[in-house]
Amino acid sequence: MEKTMDKIVNLCKSRGFVFPGSEIYNGFANTWDFGPVGVELKNNIKRAWWKRFVQEEPNSYGVDAAILMNPKVWEASGHVQSFGDPKMDCKKCKQRFRADTLIEAHSKGSVAAEAMSNEELEKYISDHHICCPHCGNFDWTPIRKFNPMFKTSRGSLEAEADVVYLRPETCQGEYVNFLNVQRTTRAKVPFSIAQIGKSFRNEITPGNFLFRTIEFEQMEFQTFCRDENSMEIYEKNKAAALQFAKDVGLKEENLRFHDHDKLAHYAKAACDIQYKFPIGWEELNGIHHRGTWDLSRHQEFSGKSMQYLDPVSNEKFVPTVIEYSIGADRLVLAVLCEAYDEENLENGETRVVMHLHPALAPYKVAVLPLQKNLSEKAREVYAHLSKHFMCDYDEAGSIGKRYRRQDEIGTPLCVTIDFDTLEDNTVTVRDRDSMQQIRLQIDKLVQYVEDKIKF
Ligand code: GAP
Repeated sequence: MEKTMDKIVNLCKSRGFVFPGSEIYNGFANTWDFGPVGVELKNNIKRAWWKRFVQEEPNSYGVDAAILMNPKVWEASGHVQSFGDPKMDCKKCKQRFRADTLIEAHSKGSVAAEAMSNEELEKYISDHHICCPHCGNFDWTPIRKFNPMFKTSRGSLEAEADVVYLRPETCQGEYVNFLNVQRTTRAKVPFSIAQIGKSFRNEITPGNFLFRTIEFEQMEFQTFCRDENSMEIYEKNKAAALQFAKDVGLKEENLRFHDHDKLAHYAKAACDIQYKFPIGWEELNGIHHRGTWDLSRHQEFSGKSMQYLDPVSNEKFVPTVIEYSIGADRLVLAVLCEAYDEENLENGETRVVMHLHPALAPYKVAVLPLQKNLSEKAREVYAHLSKHFMCDYDEAGSIGKRYRRQDEIGTPLCVTIDFDTLEDNTVTVRDRDSMQQIRLQIDKLVQYVEDKIKF
């Protein structure tokens, strides 16, 4: 079975996971809307992440910071001055590309172009005669830096002084609240601040569905620690990030670490976890040693101390930061790609089935009356189960077609109501993956489902 991005996109659209953004206006490039089952999947992924990295971590605290921050934040972070994609236009066909992406594609990922200067990028493209992927010509404009932050303005006058940016990453909300969180929780280093929220980037390269969008959610946490412990924490966070990726259902053989060769001057280490998407191995998330860079910069630009006071030794210092960052939408895409399957059945038919982890599945149970005149009892069962779980209810079409529909949205269990149900209060429970069926008392259903969907 060939798993292509087109198949995933089509299933997402036809089953209500994801729709093209502003579709009735012919769409809006690199924007996507989550539909009824997509929003459930994404919320479940965010919940699983929060459970793992905030709820189950004794020294981890959540925040939900403002998207619009004082513009000085982006001066301190370096985004205003230097965070720009090196872009070049093909003079023949007028298509625009990122120079580093062109090199990475040409070298099949063997050249770390991200760390190259503009001069190095231009020289490499010229030396290797890298042509326009769209029209095949070699006629490039010089590279220009492109600031991917979206600008808006505060107040009624659109003067430069009123410029405000939509945040391109959530982590700055964690840095600026470092001491607020530390003081109110009385946390001692090492401790982490976590956040899930929207980020915005004026991306110019092809999006590849949810992989790269201009508006996306990030799930990030920063661990603040003593520098002497930082590498141990970096390794621990790396392992925890990989474990989480496996626990949401990504297969080990589709995951790998990619350590960065070139590091920022303040960093001791940096790596990505890559996932084997249908478009190839690509970054799923990053784990970065950031030294004291971010807090020191905020200290410098705000004029406020960002030092931690050790309550035992009375020592004051700016902690080192280890960052973990993953895009919720990109993880949704990886989970969808992993779960997609086409199975050949004994009767010669093929079924499309999403083997989603039951804890992530949009609906945990679908309630299906065998015939319409059983709907009263079926609605009773639905009302009972939906107090505990997201459930679907479907009474239209043959039972076989209804099972297929639930398979395609990854519902782990289907509960069928038949005439015996009226007599003995039992139902048929059908398992999505094995397609095995068992008979169960209605009052045992909630516990049965609970056990199935543990994360
Ligand atoms: N605070 C660090 C940071 O933002 P990043 O590597 O630029 O680092 C972190 O982004 C993660 O956010 C990526 O690994 C990816 O999962 C996700 N991400 C970044 N840009 C994205 C985009 N345009 N669309 C979807 N996800 C994106």
